[in-house]
Amino acid sequence: MTAEAQGQGVGTALIAGLARASEAEGYWTLQAQVLAANTASLALLRKSGYREVGVRERLGRIGDAWHDVVLLERRSTRTGGRGLPTYECPQQATGAKS
Ligand SMILES: CC(C)(COP(=O)(O)OP(=O)(O)OC[C@H]1O[C@@H](n2cnc3c(N)ncnc32)[C@H](O)[C@@H]1OP(=O)(O)O)[C@@H](O)C(=O)NCCC(=O)NCCS
Repeated sequence: MTAEAQGQGVGTALIAGLARASEAEGYWTLQAQVLAANTASLALLRKSGYREVGVRERLGRIGDAWHDVVLLERRSTRTGGRGLPTYECPQQATGAKS
């Protein structure tokens, strides 16, 4: 995005459009990964309803330098999602002797 275009709501509109489109398709969770140093994109995502769920240390490489990457997610409050598991996890066999 050019410097002149920044700060005019384009990023917010795109992120909101993605949320609307994904919810219309029944998606429940959106994930994003952003370099920890990219404070502008992190601010945009937080403002758009994403929350930080973890930091993957030294995951991204730019040139010779490794960078931490922040994992964020947005959970929809409007759709439960299609394709979510509806079965119970099989119980692990216990006490089995070989
Ligand atoms: C980060 C970026 C994608 C956001 O898109 P945008 O259209 O400018 O964002 P918006 O105008 O919708 O602003 C939404 C929020 O983003 C954050 N934000 C935007 N530009 C920012 C900046 N320069 N510094 C810090 N936060 C910023 C703010 O939280 C802002 O909310 P606010 O206006 O209430 O403070 C865009 O500004 C950009 O490309 N920035 C420079 C390059 C960059 O960092 N790119 C990502 C590299 S991977």
